[in-house]
Amino acid sequence: MVKITLIPGDGIGPEITKVVKTIFQELKLPIEWEECLAGQTALEKLNDPLPKETIDSLSRTKLGLKGPLATPSIEGFKSINLTLRQHFNLYANLRPTKSFQGIKTRYDNIDLVVVRENTEELYSGIERFVGRNRESAETISVVTKKGSERIIRFAFEYALQNKRKKITLVHKANILKCTSGLFLAAGRNIAKEYPKVKFDEKIIDNMCMQLVMNPQQFDVIVSTNLFGDILSDLTAGLIGGLGIAPSANIGESTSIFEAVHGSAPDIAGKNVANPTALLLSGAMLLDHLNHPVESEKIRKAVAEVIREGKYLTRDLGGKASTTEYQNAILKKL
Ligand SMILES: NC(=O)c1ccc[n+]([C@@H]2O[C@H](COP(=O)([O-])OP(=O)(O)OC[C@H]3O[C@@H](n4cnc5c(N)ncnc54)[C@H](O)[C@@H]3O)[C@@H](O)[C@H]2O)c1
Repeated sequence: MVKITLIPGDGIGPEITKVVKTIFQELKLPIEWEECLAGQTALEKLNDPLPKETIDSLSRTKLGLKGPLATPSIEGFKSINLTLRQHFNLYANLRPTKSFQGIKTRYDNIDLVVVRENTEELYSGIERFVGRNRESAETISVVTKKGSERIIRFAFEYALQNKRKKITLVHKANILKCTSGLFLAAGRNIAKEYPKVKFDEKIIDNMCMQLVMNPQQFDVIVSTNLFGDILSDLTAGLIGGLGIAPSANIGESTSIFEAVHGSAPDIAGKNVANPTALLLSGAMLLDHLNHPVESEKIRKAVAEVIREGKYLTRDLGGKASTTEYQNAILKKL
């Protein structure tokens, strides 16, 4: 049995993690969940948004499946997602985006992956107000050569392993000469080690326009933390939204799998959330554990249910509840 830390999380988190548990159970996977709290729920129940038991469990299992955690936009509340990524050094955030037949979008056949640096740059956590009356504020963007090389090399290795042909490095080195400049220089150097993968570079503003106008030209996209965060919501939007966008936070020893979306407080507790993003994150976890047959079964079942269109959740234009959608997937399995 492999032990995995399961963090149901906040908002729609408990509803969607329940679906993943049910589907994994149906597949009879040799997995034992260690259920732990984090986020707003942990704060309310245990007076601590990131209890020691949760950190201890992740340190032990080295694998986590995490529901979304709410981060109030108030001073003094440090994002628990950020804390987990920094604590476990989850430096690579992998966000694949693939079109589904049956979801009406502007483009078909999108198949790209955003590889986002996950621990540095403007998410360094170093920020402060300046002046007596807080007239200004500053955030320090920290980009290191080591961190840049590590994520860029990860992207190239990922491309080779997954038979992908091209890497686009996204930056703003024309303005941010030091931070973005360092990242771009690291990319140009590392690209020379991988002659089989085509290397391309784009400035972030142009990249946004290109993604909206002609997204099929992209394959693997690598960028620093903030640009990667924003770009991956954009790419999720290209295939039908956040309800179907999975992700993995990969570190050297620990990895945590989670949906790209947040806790969706507007629909929490209504049994209408789309569990696909977390379920596909679970499939990424199964790939990581070397269970390719089961992960493929999940992807196939999801693709079939979506293509048939009878049991789509509201975010995809349907009327099905979370449970009805789950049952349709179970039937396919
Ligand atoms: N990884 C994470 O834990 C994570 C990521 C992003 C945001 N957040 C947090 O989540 C909270 C809410 O953030 P937000 O509203 O900006 O973003 P959100 O992703 O929670 O929601 C954005 C919109 O998408 C919809 N949506 C999201 N997931 C859906 C799903 N699975 N099925 C159907 N519809 C879905 C929501 O209903 C909402 O209309 C904030 O506290 C934020 O900090 C957490």
